[in-house]
Parts: sequence; structure tokens; C-alpha cells
Amino acid sequence: AKITFITTDESSITLEATSGSVMELAVQNNVAGIDGDCGGVCSCATCHVHVDPAHLDKTGDASEIEKDMLELDDNANEYSRLCCQLEVSDQLDGVILRVAQ
Ligand code: FES
Repeated sequence: AKITFITTDESSITLEATSGSVMELAVQNNVAGIDGDCGGVCSCATCHVHVDPAHLDKTGDASEIEKDMLELDDNANEYSRLCCQLEVSDQLDGVILRVAQ
């Protein structure tokens, strides 16, 4: 799947992967603003992204644990996801994710 990140300085980077989490993909490719400090166990929110509103059907809904974590983040909104919880699959192809501040 091709996944596009838009960083906080408005630069866009499109990466391609077939498996793993979106966070791992971003960290491996040095996408600015995605740190993945907790290693992908949904407890740090340094992988926070806002899904393009037109692409919510690609990502689906956040889990309860993920929502609880996002509630602690002032920049969270209805498009927020922790991208360590997004598994790369064909369903995500073409998705645009905006790195949260
Ligand atoms: Fe820590 Fe996603 S990497 S919550």
C-alpha cells in the first residue's frame, strides 16, 4: 500500500509497504514528528496522526484503548489515530495522514 504523510512543515512523503505498522514505516523512513517512543504498544501518542477526512473509511475506527490514549492529547480530534495501531494493508492504499503537532 502507498501511504502519504504530510508533516507539520507541510512537506509530503509517500512510502510504500506491504506489512508492519504505519508507525514502523514512518520511523524507518524518518518521517518528522513520528517518534514511536513506546515501540507501538499504544501508550505514548508520539505516533499521532490526523487521517484525511475523506479517508476515514480506509483506517476504520480507533480501539477503546487508543481512544483513551488520544483523550490525553490536546491536539486530538475526530480524525486522530495512533498510527502504531494502523496495520499496513491494501485497504490503506492511498491514505493521507497528517502528522499531528
Ligand atoms: Fe506509542 Fe503509537 S508508538 S502510541
